[in-house]
Amino acid sequence: MLVKLLNLDHVGIAVTDLNRALDGYRERYGVEPLYREVVAAQGVEEAMLPVGGSFVQLLRPLAADTPVGRFLEKRGEGLHHVAFMVASIEIALDHMREQGARLIDEVARPGGRGARIAFVHPADLGGTLIELVELPG
Ligand code: CO
Repeated sequence: MLVKLLNLDHVGIAVTDLNRALDGYRERYGVEPLYREVVAAQGVEEAMLPVGGSFVQLLRPLAADTPVGRFLEKRGEGLHHVAFMVASIEIALDHMREQGARLIDEVARPGGRGARIAFVHPADLGGTLIELVELPG
């Protein structure tokens, strides 16, 4: 089965101070978050800023010992991942496995907005952490 990317769902940006980052996006670009929630499964508080048909996702780690916490420690604030929307995350993961892709998540896990998500390792393609997102139907 082929994977079909439906949309560039969001770009994820790691920040140390979510309120300060939201103030910056409001002042510079006039955008307000449509969602803001703690996603314990990912160890983050996230805010989603709508931009056209996609989002900027601001991520604040809940603790230093989380994936985004370690990213901030090592790399500082900045672009963390790119997320593609797919119709079926199972079909997408099957396709990636057939391709021999280096997956971080072998099975989907819960993300924000009630979505199911899975990450593909940055070493798999172009040094970019890729997130696949299936929104609830
Ligand atoms: Co994301």
